[in-house]
Amino acid sequence: MSLENMTEMLIRAKERKYAVGAFNILDYNSMKAAVRAAEEVKAPVIIQTSPKTIEFWGCRTLSVWAEEICRDSDVPVAIHLDHCRELPLIKECIDAGWTSVMVDASSKPFEENLSLTKEVIEIAKPKGVSVEAELGEIGGVEDNISVRDDNAYLADPNKSELFCREASLDCFAPAVGTAHGVYRGEPKIDFDRIEEISKRTNLPLALHGGTGLSDEIFIRCISLGCAKVNISTQIKYAYIDSFVNYYNAYKTEYNPLKEITAQFDTIKTAVIEKIKLFGSAGQAWREKYYGSTNFNASNRSGHYHRHNNRMVYKGE
Ligand code: 13P
Repeated sequence: MSLENMTEMLIRAKERKYAVGAFNILDYNSMKAAVRAAEEVKAPVIIQTSPKTIEFWGCRTLSVWAEEICRDSDVPVAIHLDHCRELPLIKECIDAGWTSVMVDASSKPFEENLSLTKEVIEIAKPKGVSVEAELGEIGGVEDNISVRDDNAYLADPNKSELFCREASLDCFAPAVGTAHGVYRGEPKIDFDRIEEISKRTNLPLALHGGTGLSDEIFIRCISLGCAKVNISTQIKYAYIDSFVNYYNAYKTEYNPLKEITAQFDTIKTAVIEKIKLFGSAGQAWREKYYGSTNFNASNRSGHYHRHNNRMVYKGE
């Protein structure tokens, strides 16, 4: 199955009250580990990268890896650009074959955020690329984006409704109390706000700042409308710790492929665990839903249509 955008995978997830895991990968090995994990438990999956990772490898390189890894894959995989503030990089990724992008203009005033988001949608949609945008400001550090606690603020439900009515998004990321990076103290999640925004926007919501949330929090957020869950810091820890632990345990070997294998196995196990928790195991595309095992953005219109600016499923 070829790479997919996130549109249908998130609509289905929202309808069926599970979430698709979105894992911030770092290189070929971690990308492959996340995809193989999804294959093992038959789940749709989103592999995403921050602009910093793209700066390091180049977006063409990453998309070639994704195509290669997913060529014979029987689960839907989206390659998604996470938290991007720069229009040129968004365009570059779209041109290089990325299937999904997040425009993050959340630090700008509402109108500016909306206008940049609409601009991205105009570029992305004709190419079948899905779009996510953020409102409010999610605290913490996500690679090169750092939001101090006193600058973080939650998304307003009225503004969220207006934003999503104006912009034809595939996924909406309202700030709801989670934070990127490692939590200092108990996370204070505004569950009522998630419920309210989910009802008012009727869009699949993205839950950012997944690392460090308890199983109960994940399950509750997903039941309230979060259909995409982002995990980054946990992957970074798994990446480094597994390498170092293997090295420390077998210091005399000096065979890097062993360390790399330990990284692969550790990341794959962590991704499988999260996929199962999010309820997406066993939810990979099935022929009966799309009439084809090779469903892609171009034949989407047969099963979904836009109604009042929403993607509506027409049935099997
Ligand atoms: P964590 O680093 O807390 O897992 O957050 C990931 C995220 O939301 C990426 O956008």
